[in-house]
Amino acid sequence: MTGRQGATSANSQANWLKLNNAKHQWHPVQDPKAVAASPPLIIETGDGVYVTDIDGRRYLDCQGGLWCVNAGHGRQEIKDAITAQLDKLQYYTLFPGTTHAPSITLSAKLCEVTAEEDMAKVFFSSGGSDANETALKIARQYWRLVGEPDRTKIFSFKNGYHGLHFGATSAAASAPIKRASVPCSPTSIRPSSPISTATLSRKIPRSFRRCAPPCSSATSSIIRPARSRPSSPNPSSARAA
Ligand SMILES: Cc1ncc(COP(=O)(O)O)c(C=O)c1O
Repeated sequence: MTGRQGATSANSQANWLKLNNAKHQWHPVQDPKAVAASPPLIIETGDGVYVTDIDGRRYLDCQGGLWCVNAGHGRQEIKDAITAQLDKLQYYTLFPGTTHAPSITLSAKLCEVTAEEDMAKVFFSSGGSDANETALKIARQYWRLVGEPDRTKIFSFKNGYHGLHFGATSAAASAPIKRASVPCSPTSIRPSSPISTATLSRKIPRSFRRCAPPCSSATSSIIRPARSRPSSPNPSSARAA
């Protein structure tokens, strides 16, 4: 292929992508009509803290994908580690009966780096919503196992965002996100977010005091899931992690 043919083929692919941008794809938390009227940037490459779109415009990637490209784009050591693992084993399940070395090693490492938090075990999930969904279930399971199955309510701040799975949406999504999937879980309690009015550490305990009566049936707060059983449930002592 000559240089000119290569450029023509790249152009026609770019044109095809622009033509089909937002045509067949449903983007999260956006009105499809608005997305179609103002199609998203088509990002093509990433390098360190920069990404480049199909027209060659370069952007500083301030959000790191969606906060998940924390080490930067295109890091050779990450690519090497992924490739080495894919060469060996691309996936295996942790469901009953099997496990594998990377999950054993990573869980040990995570417990080591979070030693100060006293984390004893790691449960792997596939993303933020999934992690929160799992945390909510673990909190409920905990109270059931210690003989207080009525503790089912979840504390979360109004306008907080904890992901788009059903439990995370029920617990905390902002009104426009939640509106689409009401009725959500009836068991959430939502104090106002203190963030806009004062510092988190000073305001959070006050927020929790305001909802003192329902606290006797609370299972966890999404800012601080139950880790150990308090000797006497005391809403005014709830505080941020
Ligand atoms: C605080 C918080 N929780 C949960 C999520 C959801 O994570 P995911 O998109 O991986 O499901 C996000 C994502 O932005 C988040 O910022």
